[in-house]
Amino acid sequence: MDLKRGREPLVIAIDGPAAAGKGTIATRLADHFGLPHLDTGLLYRAIGRIMADRGFDVDNEDLAAVIAENLDPDDLRDPRLRGHEAGELASRVAVHQKVRAALVRFQREFAGRDRGAVLDGRDIGTVICPDATVKIYVTASAEVRARRRTDELLAKGRDVDYARILSEIRSRDARDSGRATAPLKAADDAVRLDTSDLDREAAFAEAVAIVERVAGNSTAERTSFRST
Ligand code: DC
Repeated sequence: MDLKRGREPLVIAIDGPAAAGKGTIATRLADHFGLPHLDTGLLYRAIGRIMADRGFDVDNEDLAAVIAENLDPDDLRDPRLRGHEAGELASRVAVHQKVRAALVRFQREFAGRDRGAVLDGRDIGTVICPDATVKIYVTASAEVRARRRTDELLAKGRDVDYARILSEIRSRDARDSGRATAPLKAADDAVRLDTSDLDREAAFAEAVAIVERVAGNSTAERTSFRST
């Protein structure tokens, strides 16, 4: 099925816990379907990074909200945002309701582009784009995610310890899932993609199959609705 040429916007929401592979899947889906991609974790990472650089307390909700309201898309280009420290800072600023509220409009405008978009994060299918065409919840066991993250860092020559990474992943999961506002959880209508036993290629192939199936069904529903 050629979804690339469809005229209906295709909005793909990818959610899931840290290190489950959703970033890679989202980037590749965007490329495959010719859509723009927004890694929404970068928004929270940039806020945390800016606050730490200025010596601000990331747990100060009002201050974090001011930074969120004044965030510039260029702030997302800082290469330090990909690192582990920025992830931790992000997870802490992401608990603030005022920060989340300040970021909603930017994310929805991105998703509302003509042809659609791919967004990945924690609350895309539940809060930001509840009407997304396709929602995928990408997950893997904490042990598998910790193993992948450890191997990635070792390959970069970093001195890391599997047990420590596993404990960090568990505490990040607990913070992201346990917060009061927009906690990490699968939307009721999301398709679950467990990548624990899949390599990158197999996980991507499965994601493409999900998009084609779900988006194909929703196009068919709209067509039959119009013809009645
Ligand atoms: O996906 P990531 O590792 O870049 O996300 C970093 C943190 O940002 C994550 O621990 C929780 C937060 N986050 C969020 O709360 N909502 C999103 N849509 C994206 C990220």
